[in-house]
Amino acid sequence: MAKKSVRDLNLKDKKVLIRVDFNVPLKDGKITDENRIVQALPTINYVLENGGKAIIFSHLGRIKDEADKVKNSLAVVAERLSELLAKPVTFINETRGERLETAINAMKSGDVLMFENTRFEDLDGKKESKNDPELGKYWASLGEVFVNDAFGTAHRAHASNVGIASNLEEVGAGFLLEKEINFIGGTLENPERPFVAILGGAKVSDKIEVIKNLLKVADKVLIGGGMAYTFFYAMGHEVGLSLLEADKVDLAKELLELGKGKIVLGTDVITAKEFNPESEKNVRSIDAIPADEMGMDIGPKTIELFKSIIKDAKTVVWNGPVGVFEFERFKNGTLEVAKAIGAIKDQATTIIGGGDSAAAVIQFGLEDAFTHISTGGGASLEYLEGKKLPGIECVKDK
Ligand code: 3PG
Repeated sequence: MAKKSVRDLNLKDKKVLIRVDFNVPLKDGKITDENRIVQALPTINYVLENGGKAIIFSHLGRIKDEADKVKNSLAVVAERLSELLAKPVTFINETRGERLETAINAMKSGDVLMFENTRFEDLDGKKESKNDPELGKYWASLGEVFVNDAFGTAHRAHASNVGIASNLEEVGAGFLLEKEINFIGGTLENPERPFVAILGGAKVSDKIEVIKNLLKVADKVLIGGGMAYTFFYAMGHEVGLSLLEADKVDLAKELLELGKGKIVLGTDVITAKEFNPESEKNVRSIDAIPADEMGMDIGPKTIELFKSIIKDAKTVVWNGPVGVFEFERFKNGTLEVAKAIGAIKDQATTIIGGGDSAAAVIQFGLEDAFTHISTGGGASLEYLEGKKLPGIECVKDK
């Protein structure tokens, strides 16, 4: 059933609680990627334009001690949010209490307030992360309407999403959550064909459920990255020093059997003697990987093979880089895959499933070449696995 959206809620003069995922990377106290903040702006602006009082909150990092609190204050994010919204954001450096309540009660329609990192509550018995019933009820009491726009956190059942939602009648999805549901959920349910999935990343063990689920719906599943070597080994090839999950070889055999005709592995790879950005690179056929070399990227024939499959796709979902894109010498496979997907933007729905592949695309400056780059890491992975996400489930049905 379709979920309620922020459009279905009466916002006028209401205290609107907006859960966003502002868990953004910080370096030396500065935000290094503000995409998650930018992506939440349409919902916040919509609430303000429709006469709501926007009470915004998020987690940031994981909080285990007082030092984590200092590193992970949302003050810097509130400041940036204020610049992006071009209006003042009142920041309350607390997660509960009289100061917060008084500030909320003083808000007028069109005002914005943000409170401190929801996970500060984790120092007291993991109240946020364990969805403490009292905490969810308390936060719900601060508002009248709840908008969940935190897709990145949708795989967590925490007090700040599920807890609040279970204590309020009016609960809708923000535009970002809705967009992620439509692109990822919609694609898995009803993809335009051919549907090509591309999976990479280091370990098969991280992607087993994704592979199984995508084999059910995709026409082709292209596999690259570190996890390909467990498959090569399962096919009877020696993989030298490449990443090999010995305990997953039987599983790789099963997946190869299950995915006969769908799973596509390359025919060549780029190897190096050491995991080092300066290592000399070699092109090797997958049946001739020397014992003292490790796979670092897909090879030129594999790039051509992958490109020939991608070019006719009407739907592409990509999760996980196909090589060590962080090293200049070994980024080519991932770059060529990104370019090949970018080249079909006009004919296809192309989705990057968050995490490292999103980071790769941003590093290449190709972020505009795709229909949708998910803001979720773990959340997109679990969604692609076909799991129901608590942060989506807790939104009321239409
Ligand atoms: C993420 O960045 O994937 C989300 O914000 C969730 O963070 P978590 O893994 O710390 O729960």
